[in-house]
Parts: sequence; C-alpha cells; structure tokens
Amino acid sequence: MNLDHPLPLLGGLSPDDFMRRHWQRKPLLIRQAIPGFRPPLTLAAVKKLARRDDVESRLIWRENGEWRMEHGPFARLPRDNEGDWTLLVQGVDLHSDAAAELMQQFRFIPDARLDDVMISIASHGGGVGPHFDSYDVFLLQAAGEREWRYGRQKDLGLQPGLPLKILSRFEPEHTAVLAPGDMLYLPPQAAHDGVAVGDGCMTISIGFRAPSQADLARGLLEAAADQVMARVGLLGGPYGDPPLPGPRLSGLYRDPGQPAVDHPAQVPDGLIEATLATADKLRFDEALAARFLGCWLTEPGNAAVFDPPSDQPPDIEAQWPAQGRLQLDRRSRMLYRGKQLFINGETAGAAAEPALRKLADARALDCADPLCARLSDSARTQLADWLDAGWLHYRPE
Ligand code: SIN
Ligand code: CO
Repeated sequence: MNLDHPLPLLGGLSPDDFMRRHWQRKPLLIRQAIPGFRPPLTLAAVKKLARRDDVESRLIWRENGEWRMEHGPFARLPRDNEGDWTLLVQGVDLHSDAAAELMQQFRFIPDARLDDVMISIASHGGGVGPHFDSYDVFLLQAAGEREWRYGRQKDLGLQPGLPLKILSRFEPEHTAVLAPGDMLYLPPQAAHDGVAVGDGCMTISIGFRAPSQADLARGLLEAAADQVMARVGLLGGPYGDPPLPGPRLSGLYRDPGQPAVDHPAQVPDGLIEATLATADKLRFDEALAARFLGCWLTEPGNAAVFDPPSDQPPDIEAQWPAQGRLQLDRRSRMLYRGKQLFINGETAGAAAEPALRKLADARALDCADPLCARLSDSARTQLADWLDAGWLHYRPE
C-alpha cells in the first residue's frame, strides 16, 4: 500500500494524512469511500449468524420508550414491521471470507490494533441510542440508509440503570445520512447515535481495540512470571516458552546477618529487601514486551475454530512447490517483532525470517517468491505444521 497516495477510502486523504489528522483525534465523514459497495453478507446471512451459539450477538430495541437488550443466540428474530430494532453481530470476520477481506483495506493501521468486524442490521428507526465507544471505529454503510448524529462533547455522563450505555446529555455537532458505500470514522470517546432510515439498514463497524493500561501491566507481569518459571525449569505459561534470556534466579534467600528478634511475627527487613532486589533483576525489556503482546494479541477468540485441510496439503518440507501460494486462514492472527514471530497465541518455533514476515504482512506468500528459496528448514517445518493445523492454506492457482 502506498501510504502517501490519496485514497477514495479515506475521502481523498492518504493513509499518512489520515493518521496524522484524524486517527484518535477527530471524526471524518467520507462520501463513497467504497463506490458501488456490495455488502459482504446478505441480511438473511447476518440473521443466520445470530442463531449460532458460537457467534456473539445482541438485539436492542425500545419498548414503551425503555431501552431493552438481549444476548443471542436467537431462535427467533423480529420482522421489519415489529417495531424499531437493531441486531448486532460481532466477529463476522471469523465467519466470512468477504468480511475478513474488507478488513484488509484498513491495514495501514497496525494489525495489533485491529479488533473485529461487527455487522448491524436494523428496521426503520432502529439504533443503539446516543453513546460513545472506547475504541476507534470505521462505520461503513453497507445497505439501506442510516442517519448519524455525532460530535465531540466533554460531558460523557451516562443514564443510570440501563442495560446499555446511553449518554445523559447528547449534543451532536453534525448530522449526516449515510448511503451504501459512505463511511464515518469516529475516534474513541466521540458521541454518536445512528438511526436506520427505512428498513433493511446494514452498517459494518471495523473496530480497533485499545488495550487498557491495566491489561498491559498485568500481561507484562504475567509474562515476567512465566519467564521466571521457565528459567528455573518449572512449567510456565505461553509467555515463557521458549525462555527468553534473563537473570539467574536459582539461588536461595540467605540471612547470615539476621539478629535475634523479640518480635518473631514481624516480617524481617532482610526478606523485604531481598524480594525487592530480586524484582530489580527481572528484565522488563523489549523482548519481554514483544513476547507478551505477540502472544496475547494473536490469541484466537473462542469463535476461531480452525478446520483441518479438506485436501492433503503438499509436503512442503520434502519439496517446495514451484507455483501456487500460501495463504493465512481468515481466522489466523500473525504478528512479528524483530526475530520474534507469533501466530494464534503462540511463539513460532522459527525465527521471523524475511519470507515469514512477508507472509504476516501480506497474509499470503507466493511460492515462487525468491525469498522462499532462502527459507530455513525450521521455517519450512513450521509452515508445514500450520498447513496441517488449518492455520494456513495452499492455493495451487
Ligand atoms: C450500529 O451499527 O448500529 C451501532 C454501531 C455503533 O454505534 O458503534
Ligand atoms: Co458506537
């Protein structure tokens, strides 16, 4: 992707301009971001997903002026003429190649920030009420029309006691009716309210996660704990495998200077100091942060169930295919940092060689790519394992 080329997707801004001017800062309304846009799923297909128990869905409606919300799966869904309702289906990218493909257009933003594709369908008047979200979102109108009112307000107080987040005071700065192909980018905390105009409204939210500082701190501490366990030869969690280089922690606490005590129940100073000194030895460095983030951010959700390959994949360890390509499954998440490579919640056994980095960035790798000739044996073994697991597919064409 050419990062300084204007894109219709961004209303004529280049990805560079968009990130500088709007990302995390201010809303952007884009008319015909995707001209002639065709929804990746029909309304019926979205409803069908909401019937599945491995798909997260919510139905929101108002009854006698009161907000109501129910979680799926739904055996029965309302018809268009049964009041104003909205059905929201989360993680559609895990279930539809077309929805996953749509996300590819937004990969000028790091994958580490990408969350999921949510699709909502609504009858006339349907909406989820005025609210704000904590993450960045591109709201792409896929079918029918929706009127958005939005703006940046300071007062983010919520109405108490409701089943969903509804702003107490909503003071929109802008109003726009979006038709298929139009898109609205909203940064975190932007107040917004989208109401379907006519039946058959479909809106696609391409959402970007923003980890909380508490999650980052806890994750890094867990990763450090896993490393300690791995280095002293005890079983660690996913972040300790294989162990990163780090301090030796195999000694025992010693207290040859411990005086006799007349308060035996008091925790001794020496033990406190030794504990803090040990904590100082832990390396909270880039490698540990990458290990934690790479495993955590690639962890497949519960809904990401991989199918084993339907055809026997080629034995790429024995003979590298002269043509065709390797393609990541739409559910696979793959990230790298330096030499560290992560896929679906694991540290890869192979280092992030150039061909593997290319696979992660492009989500596909042409077998005839000259970089493939330089693949190490361990990388080929790794690719073969991923083919067997259904994390990766071989496409002969
Ligand atoms: C919707 O798609 O109806 C709601 C999306 C949102 O407001 O975040
Ligand atoms: Co929202």
